[in-house]
Amino acid sequence: MRTPYVAGNWKMNLDRRAAGELAAAVRDHAADGVHVGLFPAMVHLDEVTRITAGSHVRVGGQNCSDQVSGAFTGEVSAPMLKDIGATVVLLGHSERRHVYGETDAFISSKVRRALEDGLDVMLCVGETIEQRKDGQTETVCRTQLAAGLDGVERSALERVTIAYEPVWAIGTGETASPEQAGAVHTYLRGILAGMYDDDAAAAMRILYGGSVKPSNAKELMAVPDIDGALVGGAALKPETFLPIIDAAR
Ligand code: 13P
Repeated sequence: MRTPYVAGNWKMNLDRRAAGELAAAVRDHAADGVHVGLFPAMVHLDEVTRITAGSHVRVGGQNCSDQVSGAFTGEVSAPMLKDIGATVVLLGHSERRHVYGETDAFISSKVRRALEDGLDVMLCVGETIEQRKDGQTETVCRTQLAAGLDGVERSALERVTIAYEPVWAIGTGETASPEQAGAVHTYLRGILAGMYDDDAAAAMRILYGGSVKPSNAKELMAVPDIDGALVGGAALKPETFLPIIDAAR
C-alpha cells in the first residue's frame, strides 16, 4: 500500500513570520496515515525545519544545484539543503522548466546529484495546453519521466516521488478531471514498470498537482493511481491546506 502524500509548494510566497505560522499549523495537524511535505522558499527553510522538527512534516527545497559546491553564484546545493534540515527537494517543476528554461538533461543531473547527496526527490512532469491539444500529453510526460530518472538505480526509487502537474492546470483554477489525471497517472505507472519492474512501479507514489483545493481534493485522490497532491495556492493558508490533508486520509 502506498501511503498518501500531500505536499505544499509555497513558491515565492510568504514572509518569515507567515511561513513560521503556517508551518506550525501544518505541524499541529499532521499525523500518521498521510505524509505531509512543505516546500518553503529557500530563505525560510531554516525557520520551517526548526518549527517542524520532530513532527510528521518533511521539509524540502523548491530546487537545488546539480553541483556540490563552488563558484555558482545564486545556487544552493543539495548538501546545503540537507545541512539545514531539508530531507527532500522538488525538481523539474513546470515553472523551472518553462519560466527558467531548465532542460530534461539539466533536471536529470540535479536528480542524480540530490539522490547521491542524500535528499529524497519529488520529480514533476506535465504537458502544456498546446501539447495536450496536439495529442502530445503521453509523449511529453514519458520523455520528462524517463529523462528525469535517467541513471537512477532501482534501489533509489523508494526515495523518489513523481508529481504529475499539467501546466494548464497550475495556478489557473482549472483542474484536470479525475479521469484526465487518472489516465496520465496510470500511463506513468506503466512507464515506470517498463523502466524498472511492476513491483517498483506499484510502490512509487504519483501525486497530482494543478489547482487542487478542498472542493476537488477528495475526488482526485480517490482515483486508485493518484497517491496524493502537490498543492500551490491552496497550500498557503491552513484553512485550505489542512482539509486537503484530511481528504487524503
Ligand atoms: P496551484 O495549486 O496553485 O495550481 O499550483 C500547483 C503547483 O504548481 C504545485 O507545485
